[in-house]
Amino acid sequence: MLTQQAIDAFAGLTGAAPEGVWAGPGRINLIGEHTDYNDGYVLPFALPQAACVAASRRTDGRWRLRSVDLDETVELGADDLVPGTPGWHSYLAGVVWALRQAGHRVDGADLVLTSDVPLGAGLSSSAAIECATLTALVDLNDLQIAPIDRAKLARVAENAYVGAPTGLLDQAASTLCKADHALFLDCRTLETEQVPLAVTDAGLEILVVDTRTRHSHVDGEYAARRASCENACQLLGVPALRDVTDLDSALARLPELEARRVRHVVTENQRVLDSMTALAAGDYPELGRLMTASHASMRDDYEITETSVDLAVETALDSGALGARMTGGGFGGCVLALVRADRVDGIVTAVREAFASAGLGEPVTFLARPSAGARRLV
Ligand code: GLA
Repeated sequence: MLTQQAIDAFAGLTGAAPEGVWAGPGRINLIGEHTDYNDGYVLPFALPQAACVAASRRTDGRWRLRSVDLDETVELGADDLVPGTPGWHSYLAGVVWALRQAGHRVDGADLVLTSDVPLGAGLSSSAAIECATLTALVDLNDLQIAPIDRAKLARVAENAYVGAPTGLLDQAASTLCKADHALFLDCRTLETEQVPLAVTDAGLEILVVDTRTRHSHVDGEYAARRASCENACQLLGVPALRDVTDLDSALARLPELEARRVRHVVTENQRVLDSMTALAAGDYPELGRLMTASHASMRDDYEITETSVDLAVETALDSGALGARMTGGGFGGCVLALVRADRVDGIVTAVREAFASAGLGEPVTFLARPSAGARRLV
């Protein structure tokens, strides 16, 4: 449906069919939050929800970018590719810029975008656009770029062009994930492992609750968390929090705030490794316990949760979820809960009722199925 929408909109813009259509999915991080920029571990999987880009080359060295969802079109030449330019089109233009900066030849193109990844929900809607665009431009220009390098280039677009100081989690997930698997990524060595995530075979579901809370100060808070981690590294004399081996002695040497931030990152890294062990053993109660511990750590030590995500987690747990946690950058967005299939309806009802009683808007819920990474659709 999204594909056809992109093709139709492309025809409306150019009067012709696109050379191809490419998708970049959103993601859910199963566990490992705010570990990526600390050289740590993450364990995301890709969602079926994706950004979709229909595209063809142009011969005049210009890029025409259209958002179907916003009903807006912009046209840029090479001189218009300026890092820091605000607007939705920066997620596409940033990818053109990042590829050119890295020395790749990128012809002009018409690119038509549509996406069903909810915006600002912590499901990585921006990386979805970047990775769909990157995959399209790689194919159209016949570029030879290894998958992990594609993820790194999409991150350059996000960091240097859009201006968000994020880690590699989102772009790696959108680029590298495979259906029915989670992606283990060591953000220092960039070693990856595809981890089978067939929860439905065990009679389980991953229920996503989008609280629809969107925090307007999220960028400043994210940068503040990064700054605390960098400050702690300086105080401890380590290159990254990944290098903290003796947590207790590190905590004793840090001011109270840095100590809590470091405790989250170091224990979260361990929870990712423990989750790998739990998944290998098919021990879902243990996976659930680790997810819930991750949430408590984000709430109490990293202080990136807020009322609605805490309520969704508590209600899901009270109604029988094996585990639950917020996913993504924080301050709202989505919670994922590991639940027995026969408990899904009951938990959804309980969360809806809890939100209504608390005077919160109705949450959106869906079941997440681990899906394929960025790819050509047509
Ligand atoms: C956002 C960032 C990621 C990562 C997460 C937190 O999604 O884009 O790089 O830091 O927050 O885990």
